[in-house]
Amino acid sequence: MSNPPILKRVTGRTRVMFILGDPVAHIIGTAILNEDFFRHGVDATVSPLHVAPGDLGQVVQAIRAMRNVAGFGVTIPHKIAVIPHLDRTTGRAAGIGAVNFVRREADGTLVGDNVDGIGFVAGLRRNGVEVAGRRVLQLGAGGAGRAIAFALAEAGASRIAIHNRTEDRALALARAVAAAYPACATTAAGPDSAGHDLVVNTTSLGMHEEDALPADLAGLDAGAVVADVIMAPETTPLLEAAAARGCRIIRGKEMLLDQPRLVREFLAL
Ligand SMILES: NC(=O)c1ccc[n+]([C@@H]2O[C@H](COP(=O)([O-])OP(=O)(O)OC[C@H]3O[C@@H](n4cnc5c(N)ncnc54)[C@H](OP(=O)(O)O)[C@@H]3O)[C@@H](O)[C@H]2O)c1
Repeated sequence: MSNPPILKRVTGRTRVMFILGDPVAHIIGTAILNEDFFRHGVDATVSPLHVAPGDLGQVVQAIRAMRNVAGFGVTIPHKIAVIPHLDRTTGRAAGIGAVNFVRREADGTLVGDNVDGIGFVAGLRRNGVEVAGRRVLQLGAGGAGRAIAFALAEAGASRIAIHNRTEDRALALARAVAAAYPACATTAAGPDSAGHDLVVNTTSLGMHEEDALPADLAGLDAGAVVADVIMAPETTPLLEAAAARGCRIIRGKEMLLDQPRLVREFLAL
């Protein structure tokens, strides 16, 4: 049991954090962060806050006045809606158009960032996969896809081809990434993986047994890496197909493992 010792050590010196969501019953990020703070000797604690969309502005305004609060996370449905209530966002969160962590500075200033994509890139790096110079096929242009495309470009991918069921979203994301990172050739594309050396699934395809594969791996070189953001099942049919071709695979859980460190760094804990 790791929770009782964590709770017992909360004092008036402890930095407090929240994760705002609606609903909150499924949130486990709080437990992961509390465990991480405990292991690293960081005097901080995190609690979920159940906040309905209509109350978000009022809650964020109240947090400005809470002087022992280091910041807060935001999850569904607040990742976009929180932005107008903040003082500023990092360039990366502005490009992505969504925030998942907010730092509260000493004077109550609130700064939003998004660490989903850099968490994904950190997961690749921890597994020995460098993004610099890679030709990427990214499947999906939803919330996770936007964060990951910006992070891949920031990490030095040479090309990103984005395929999405709704092509307009792929086009809009490709244009936004290309404008922010002109050195990375980012375009909307089809689902053909030939000629790519990193394939990333950011769609929800693969969560259900009846789902089609999100990409055609027929032309994929065995030296390519295939990564998926889906956490359940742990090894998606796409990853199984990639492994059968001899490709290196990176599972969805890898994207989460570096997030506590990234949150500690962003909140200066
Ligand atoms: N590992 C992690 O830490 C982590 C973090 C965040 C998210 N995720 C996972 O990432 C996945 C996407 O989450 P999200 O927040 O980005 O969701 P989202 O914003 O709703 O985007 C969903 C994406 O999947 C595509 N899609 C959905 N159903 C499809 C279908 N039947 N055929 C083809 N494409 C389909 C959507 O295409 P359209 O644009 O055409 O709708 C869109 O690109 C989820 O499985 C989520 O659990 C994992």
